[in-house]
Amino acid sequence: MLDAARRLIVPSARSDVPPFMVMDVMAAAARIEAAGGRVIHMEVGQPAAPAPASAIAAARAALASGRISYTETLGLPKLRARIARHYAESYGVTIDPGRVVVTTGSSAAFILAFLALFEPGDRVAVALPGYPPYRHILKALGCEPVAIETTQATRWAITPEMLLASHRSAPLKGVLVASPANPTGTMMTGEALRDLLAAAEDAGIKFISDEIYHGLDYAFAAETAARMSDNAVIINSFSKYFCMTGWRIGWMVVPQPLLRTIDRLQGNLAISVPTLSQIAAEAAFEGRAEMEEVKRGYEENRRILLAGLPQAGFEKILPVDGAFYLYADVSRFSNDSFDFAKRMLAETHVAATPGVDFDPLQGGHFIRFCYAGAAADMHEAVERIATWLKR
Ligand SMILES: Cc1ncc(COP(=O)(O)O)c(C=O)c1O
Repeated sequence: MLDAARRLIVPSARSDVPPFMVMDVMAAAARIEAAGGRVIHMEVGQPAAPAPASAIAAARAALASGRISYTETLGLPKLRARIARHYAESYGVTIDPGRVVVTTGSSAAFILAFLALFEPGDRVAVALPGYPPYRHILKALGCEPVAIETTQATRWAITPEMLLASHRSAPLKGVLVASPANPTGTMMTGEALRDLLAAAEDAGIKFISDEIYHGLDYAFAAETAARMSDNAVIINSFSKYFCMTGWRIGWMVVPQPLLRTIDRLQGNLAISVPTLSQIAAEAAFEGRAEMEEVKRGYEENRRILLAGLPQAGFEKILPVDGAFYLYADVSRFSNDSFDFAKRMLAETHVAATPGVDFDPLQGGHFIRFCYAGAAADMHEAVERIATWLKR
């Protein structure tokens, strides 16, 4: 029976995307906890704080009212207008609310953007190290992710020269950048972003800007690509700054000519985005003071780790500009970051993510710490790691 089923049910080649190695780390952490150990979780990239009280209250009220219906495919008009206002308030840029599309997290926005912009076989550049689903979603949709390796020399960002060199070797149809980035936490300056965008557009390369970590910038203010071009696709989310990962709600700002296409795609793929989350998201903007408090907590955590981890033995850390990640070079200790993360977890009960998830080429030399937890845990993590590395 099972053999017959296996012959019949063969997963498609395009669905063959790699799993997250961090899942193994998480499973090992769960085993330690089941045996009574206390794990400090720095492996998963999500805030420990809850959503803004205003968002939770709005969702409660909507739920009490009873009926939760579909909404307009592109999102509740009030939410789209509120997001457009956010661009005026936060960046001083006027965005037509008609160009705002509400999505099921930024994850759904990537699928919509890639489907709307690219044909199967199109080559799309992404940075290494980088968020793995960019590459995996592109592959699943039949596009070809083109990894451009970044280094310290360019502050871990793709430059116009790197983009154009890749384009000359085989034409690119798109490029996707994130600033602040995951896993590095590094940011592009406004000037670097502007130069790359201009070079891409001059060469006919479509530009996608993942701005999910905006609001969480410490070194300098993050600039939106929406200010620089009406032709870039901007992707953002309520998951990180607004601490709403599980609500699955995000948005895009799309070029005018793409609107009807995205409307038709989202209508067919999803009908609309969960209504309760849309209502909560609109109210989330009222909770900015609360979220700024959460951000101050990340800043304190960042300070603790930057003071403690180099002393503990992690001497090379990438610029910790934004988001809530710190990417540390562990090549002094190991060339196999997966094995290193496993040993560190087993011996210190501190969980971190091996760089191999983010970078198949150099990731063996790095691990990522997420510092979205409690300050007391940051102090304790530094102490545990320092004791372990000095043994
Ligand atoms: C860089 C980056 N983009 C996008 C996402 C997806 O987030 P969501 O779908 O919750 O908006 C993540 C999640 O960790 C991320 O790190």
